[in-house]
Amino acid sequence: DHNKRRHLPWRQSGLPYHVLISEIMLQQTRVETVIPYFNRFIDRLPSIQDLATVDEDELLKLWEGLGYYSRARNLQKAAKIIVKDHGGDLPNNAEELKKLPGIGPYTAGAIASIAFNRQEIAADGNAYRVAARLLAYEGYLEDLATKRTLEAFLRDQIPAHRPGDFNQALMDLGSSVCLSKGEPICQLCPLADQCLAQSTLPRRKPKKARRIEEKTVLVFQDKGNYLLAKRPTTSLLASMWSFPMLDGQLSKDELRDALGIEKDVYIEDLGAAKHVFSHIEWHMEGYLISLESGKETVLPNLTREKVEGYDAESAQVWTSYQDIISKYSIPTAYRHYLGEIGKET
Ligand code: ADE
Repeated sequence: DHNKRRHLPWRQSGLPYHVLISEIMLQQTRVETVIPYFNRFIDRLPSIQDLATVDEDELLKLWEGLGYYSRARNLQKAAKIIVKDHGGDLPNNAEELKKLPGIGPYTAGAIASIAFNRQEIAADGNAYRVAARLLAYEGYLEDLATKRTLEAFLRDQIPAHRPGDFNQALMDLGSSVCLSKGEPICQLCPLADQCLAQSTLPRRKPKKARRIEEKTVLVFQDKGNYLLAKRPTTSLLASMWSFPMLDGQLSKDELRDALGIEKDVYIEDLGAAKHVFSHIEWHMEGYLISLESGKETVLPNLTREKVEGYDAESAQVWTSYQDIISKYSIPTAYRHYLGEIGKET
């Protein structure tokens, strides 16, 4: 109350539906990024019923750029369950909230405390960091014992009165004062005189290096339309619309050989691009393959090759650049190639 409480759109209304949407968006995403997405989402889908019934492509379009798209799909699954089994009202306690898809202990605690005044902790990275520093707790954050100790500490602190504000104050402290990267700004901290102030805490084990995967991105063009294919239903970017891809970074000639593309089909090099996921990096090389209605000559070969996002079962569409931009949600990983075809259109 005394230290620059932030006025965020979901705090203004306090509606459980708004709290749900904001907490799912705020998993893995910063407040500043979430605000415009949240406002657009609520404008378009003002109620849980709207979310339960919206077309999946439109939902993903609203999510485009936030990443971790399974969050959006789980959110819709949760909305359907809430409408069907709970009469359209969010469950009002952490235990029931945790049973919904995409809602783990942290998010259940956040929603229960913020929307329903339940005395539940919401232990995310920020809360663990603040607690570890306050206590000068030396354990590795990756160890379960560390988490349990810090959670028990937070549980001891959380007040029966305004538990949601307590949790959100901790989140704000963690993201604006008790910083994870760079030095904490202890002069601004209302807890400074109680803190054992160990800016190097919590301790983290060294991260494993990301796996690097080389990919060849195939942008097929035919009379101003481009080929999109749905990615496989499991693993990275599951079920997202994308450009088909081959494993490995192929040269233009290797690509002709691999797909059996004839000499008169024009192939343009769209350059290299890199995308970093949490555990994997894609190092891509992309090509624009202009079929000019010769598509039958190439596509049968595609199905024989193991092209990611293009096999006999997966959905495919030929669509204009305008529609790609306005109707489909293409993962950020392909941004470079979308930009390149944008220049051509
Ligand atoms: N991070 C996750 N939930 C949050 C919230 N309600 N306010 C600020 N930051 C958050």
